[in-house]
Amino acid sequence: MKHDAVAVVDFGGQYAHLIATKVRRHRVLAEILQPEDAVEKFAAYKGIILSGSPSLSSHGEDSEYTKAVYDLEIPILGLCFGHQEIAKHYGGEVIHGGREWGAADFELQREHPLFKGIPRHSKVWMSHFDSVAAVGPDFEELGISRLGSGEQRHRYAAIGSDRHRRYGFQYHPEVDDTEFGDRMLANFVLEICGCRPSWTMDRYIEEQMARITAQVGDDSVFLLASGGVDSTVAAILLGRALGEGRLNLLHVDNGLMRKDESREVLGLFRRMGLDKNLHFIDASTDFLAALAGVTEPEQKRAIIGNTFVEVFQREATRLGIADHLLGQGTIYPDTIETGGTRRADTIKTHHNRVPIIEEMIAAGKVIEPLADLYKVEVRELGEKLGVPHDLVWRHPFPGPGLGVRLLCSDGTVSEAELAEPRRQARSLAAAFGLDADILPIRSVGVKADLRCYEHPVLLHGAVDFDTLLEAAGTILRRTEGVNRCVWNLAEAMPQTLSLLPATVTRERLDLLREADHLVMDGLRRHGLYEEIWQCPTVLVPLSLDERGRETVIVRPIYSERAMTASPARLTPALLDELRRHILALPGVSGLMLDITTKPPATIEWE
Ligand code: XMP
Repeated sequence: MKHDAVAVVDFGGQYAHLIATKVRRHRVLAEILQPEDAVEKFAAYKGIILSGSPSLSSHGEDSEYTKAVYDLEIPILGLCFGHQEIAKHYGGEVIHGGREWGAADFELQREHPLFKGIPRHSKVWMSHFDSVAAVGPDFEELGISRLGSGEQRHRYAAIGSDRHRRYGFQYHPEVDDTEFGDRMLANFVLEICGCRPSWTMDRYIEEQMARITAQVGDDSVFLLASGGVDSTVAAILLGRALGEGRLNLLHVDNGLMRKDESREVLGLFRRMGLDKNLHFIDASTDFLAALAGVTEPEQKRAIIGNTFVEVFQREATRLGIADHLLGQGTIYPDTIETGGTRRADTIKTHHNRVPIIEEMIAAGKVIEPLADLYKVEVRELGEKLGVPHDLVWRHPFPGPGLGVRLLCSDGTVSEAELAEPRRQARSLAAAFGLDADILPIRSVGVKADLRCYEHPVLLHGAVDFDTLLEAAGTILRRTEGVNRCVWNLAEAMPQTLSLLPATVTRERLDLLREADHLVMDGLRRHGLYEEIWQCPTVLVPLSLDERGRETVIVRPIYSERAMTASPARLTPALLDELRRHILALPGVSGLMLDITTKPPATIEWE
């Protein structure tokens, strides 16, 4: 059957592929095309969506794409960078300014089929430096936006020309945080482009099984199985396509796992009947030796990824199956955040995307049956394939494990770098009745599709959670050099914040394992585990008491696809319990709650 399809042009924005999966949810096939693809290729589609980009439209960056698409009589919707490019192409003006990130209030200026079924006021999600300052003759302003209460309004949040059938949104309808984003995309695809919905997940399974059989041929697969939902669903799918005899599983304890995790994972595999060709190796000594003395986050990630490959190859040789393809449960965000499409910036290198694996992929030695999917789709697939509910809904846990939650430092910090952000943050926090300081460490974030590595703001004071989130949003928008806000859970504002020299050691990992165990156990007992999407616990080498004891930071979030996230609410009872138990751990002097959206902070700290 031939499906009606939409082309998504990937300008390298963090969300380009997400647009495609969102369109597919409306049962319309969406495919990713490159901006320089020939115009004839685009002509086969019933609609075109231009994605966001890390490039600046105002500076004419990335402007060498196939502009002939604008001559096609096919509706085009531009998002963020794509929106600005459409405005420019049809005689409007784009300026470097008017930046917004996070939730904004959107207000429709008139009724339009693109906004069918959507109220006049709603929430949209912004992440941009440039904005549209004027539109050309055939265009009109369909919506405006405002950030926070009483702040200045931003014009041209949505624009359109029915004559040309060209439309643009400054915000991202594809992220879950845009309240009616799904509906807006559906309206574009179904109403404006007139696509017939005929695409399904069953069809996806069929195609993947065929693809696996074709790629593997007469070979076999050796799959790295962490026990997380991605690699487990990949194992089931591969097992079905190839038969169990041609699938070997390797579970590696890299020393960066949670408390008792490997033991539990092996038990789970046994219960699921995945233990016929299941191998286990405790490689914690290899990983910890390779990480000794290293403090830089990307270097840690690279070492962990490379050590996985070394351990895998050593085990494969030992078992006499070195000719097998390497199987991985890689999902789409792993690729996109590693800068895996030509234009995307590297936010962080995922363990399954280090250069040696990229080389193996190029040589056809790797099979990744879930590489196009987001977590929410993997879960849907897992349920369809009969994976037990608890496993399908386990919190995601990154491949490098606690390695990216154990911050390291050489113990030095430039005080000059902290002075100006501290002044700005303090004056903004005071308006909300809060004290503020800047933490002398850095963590990874993402702003307007680019990686940033900046300081967290520490807030202290007794205000309600909504005020706290509003304060965090305002401070992060208006302060340079910061990308995260944390809230002090101890009684008093710390008088000292000293940075300790620290690296990856078994002792620090054991301390983090204990803190993480208390948090996970607390979430389960207080009935919050299912509602919260993920909750990293981070150990930071910051001593608040001059005794060399470190600080624990808890990061509960809500999300669906991990490309965006918002801070989750913990109950006062759970917060009290965490205060009592975590601050009582020997080696811990401080406890904080991360209250930052993604963007500008990523979910993990490194
Ligand atoms: P960030 O920190 O980029 O995380 O907002 C997005 C999601 O990806 C997970 N994550 C990883 N998963 N290998 C993985 O398999 C990795 O290297 C990796 N790094 C981050 C993270 O836990 C979150 O769910």
